[in-house]
Amino acid sequence: MEYLNLNTGAQIPMVGFGVFRVPDLQECENVVYEAIRIGYRLVDTATAYKNEEAVGAAVRRAIADGICTREELFVTSKLWVTDMSDEETAARAIDASLDRLDIGYLDLYLEHQALNDYFAAWRSMQRAYKAGKLRAIGVSNFYPNILTNFCEVVDVVPAVNQVELHPYYTQEGALETMAHYGVVPEAWAPLGGGRYNPFEDEGFRAIAEVHGKTVGQVLLRWNVQRGVVVIPKSTHVERIAENFDIWDFELTDAEMAAISSHNMGYTGTRAKHFEPDFVRMCLGK
Ligand SMILES: NC(=O)c1ccc[n+]([C@@H]2O[C@H](COP(=O)([O-])OP(=O)(O)OC[C@H]3O[C@@H](n4cnc5c(N)ncnc54)[C@H](OP(=O)(O)O)[C@@H]3O)[C@@H](O)[C@H]2O)c1
Repeated sequence: MEYLNLNTGAQIPMVGFGVFRVPDLQECENVVYEAIRIGYRLVDTATAYKNEEAVGAAVRRAIADGICTREELFVTSKLWVTDMSDEETAARAIDASLDRLDIGYLDLYLEHQALNDYFAAWRSMQRAYKAGKLRAIGVSNFYPNILTNFCEVVDVVPAVNQVELHPYYTQEGALETMAHYGVVPEAWAPLGGGRYNPFEDEGFRAIAEVHGKTVGQVLLRWNVQRGVVVIPKSTHVERIAENFDIWDFELTDAEMAAISSHNMGYTGTRAKHFEPDFVRMCLGK
């Protein structure tokens, strides 16, 4: 496993396990436990996924079974938009996440979207960080203009920005902004999030064949090689293992460029952050 340095001095593993759309709590606990058994040390959940309890149970079970220690794990959760209306509401929501997870502290906690009063919510995040409840704090879906303004204004610069990053939405400009402020980029939907059907793409398949790897492994390796943390999700054990096994090959510069050439720009994104209906939906209006 390779790691990146956070601005807190801690390190983040470059491959983690995401649990968006795993609503069944028993299934979620089982797949997170399997992922940790396979070797994953980063797990990514969120208040909005409604499965923090299951992630916490899997983590406690893995530690009790001697698979790893709490210190070796890197557990991330996120503050949802409707809990970001003011400092007190955000502070209560942070504590509620910690209670549901029940693993002592969180290694990283993110503002899920740049919506509602995300500055007030950040002040509560900063307090929880300074109190040691959250070992690092970061943001998600902060586009370059928003991230720039945020980093210039807040006291604690976010450690991570988790955004949509895959070959159909490469966001090089966003990566440049994050590098400028020392914010580690983390890719959601690194396999395309169930869209685009990358697994049938002839070009991707040819590159995968050259290396004796799968298309999924090539897509994850592409992001990792450009300095991006990936958090693929799967509920299938063989895929969970496959997605972790990306350290024994290297893509050439030409292959990296060929993969990036699939970029569709903003039309390639799944989330519609610039659309008023999406904003109102997140705010619960
Ligand atoms: N911050 C945000 O706003 C945000 C938004 C979305 C996601 N996320 C985070 O990012 C994580 C990953 O994103 P995501 O779940 O949307 O998408 P993803 O990981 O890109 O793709 C998941 C999909 O790919 C399939 N899959 C996984 N491994 C595969 C493989 N090796 N071969 C073929 N298909 C494979 C999965 O199916 P099976 O499960 O059936 O295997 C699932 O349908 C989430 O779980 C969540 O933690 C964050």
